[in-house]
Amino acid sequence: MTATAQAAASAHEGGNQGGDQGGDQAAAEPAIQCDRLVRVHKAGSLEVQALQGLDLRVERGEMVAMVGASGSGKSTLLNILAGLDAPSAGSARVAGHQLAGMREADRLRYRRHEVGVIWQNPAGNLLPHLTAAENVALPLRYAGTGYRARRARALDLLDELGLADHRDRIPARLSGGEQQRVAIAVALANKPSVLLADEPTGELDSQTAENVFEALRAANREHGATVLVVTHDPAIAGRVARTIAIRDGRVATETLRTAGPDSAGAGLGPGIEYAVVDSAGRLQLPREFTEPLGIRDRVRLEREADHIGVWPHQSDEEQSS
Ligand SMILES: Nc1ncnc2c1ncn2[C@@H]1O[C@H](COP(=O)(O)OP(=O)(O)OP(=O)(O)O)[C@@H](O)[C@H]1O
Ligand SMILES: [Mg+2]
Repeated sequence: MTATAQAAASAHEGGNQGGDQGGDQAAAEPAIQCDRLVRVHKAGSLEVQALQGLDLRVERGEMVAMVGASGSGKSTLLNILAGLDAPSAGSARVAGHQLAGMREADRLRYRRHEVGVIWQNPAGNLLPHLTAAENVALPLRYAGTGYRARRARALDLLDELGLADHRDRIPARLSGGEQQRVAIAVALANKPSVLLADEPTGELDSQTAENVFEALRAANREHGATVLVVTHDPAIAGRVARTIAIRDGRVATETLRTAGPDSAGAGLGPGIEYAVVDSAGRLQLPREFTEPLGIRDRVRLEREADHIGVWPHQSDEEQSS
């Protein structure tokens, strides 16, 4: 697809505002809001700026895909949103909780009740010596739910995910895709408002990946969970209404898709890629736009009635020749 990058100051306006819409202030707040989020990793004497002032807003009930080159900061962001890591600077609010400067006890409660996480490696999401049902019941046990109630909820969730027959199997006796669907059930156990998935289909073949994607979509549609899913799979990124692309620790572009006129509601169109304007007015110009025009260092801007023109800078000699 040829990228039609267009600056859109409010690129997230197309967000679908599903989920509960209570009248109080918390309900009006987005599910995820990051403002100028910074995370610096220290490796010996070196500092890596994994997140460099990232702005992101995800509405309640939205399902958003996140793409980006290796090392662009996707997992760093997810770890912060999951409450496993703390930002170096800036603000990250999830479901009304400010994660920057959160106390350990609050962080633990947040991890248990507000977010569910699914990682790329299927085995890493589950305890190997517990059955599928026991794995799903475990977070409920930590949350203080009684035996009967947690068993019933675990079986309900496994049933919903098409795994009722596999409830007494340990992970080693499940396929990769089945393990990931159990992982989604584990993540949903405590009814989190936000579900985070870091390449949940990265190790699966395309048909199995499709099943796992559908399970995530059901978590979004039927459980009302806000879903943020990191993926390298264009087939998945192409099937959500909004895909954000991270570059060098910031959201560089967003692709918004709406159902095409011929789709009969079944699929989404190819979408339009927008460049994101952050809260400081910064905009990343894609290399495929700048390189053919020799744009670097500086550009000349021209304000028109309905758009802004961006022109390569010409030196005095170039202008006079
Ligand atoms: N614990 C750490 N210590 C030092 N540097 C780190 C640490 N974790 C990540 N980094 C660095 O931060 C940057 C962002 O890493 P991150 O894991 O967030 O990337 P990613 O987008 O998830 O990449 P991938 O697609 O390969 O998973 C990289 O330069 C990485 O080397
Ligand atoms: Mg990663």
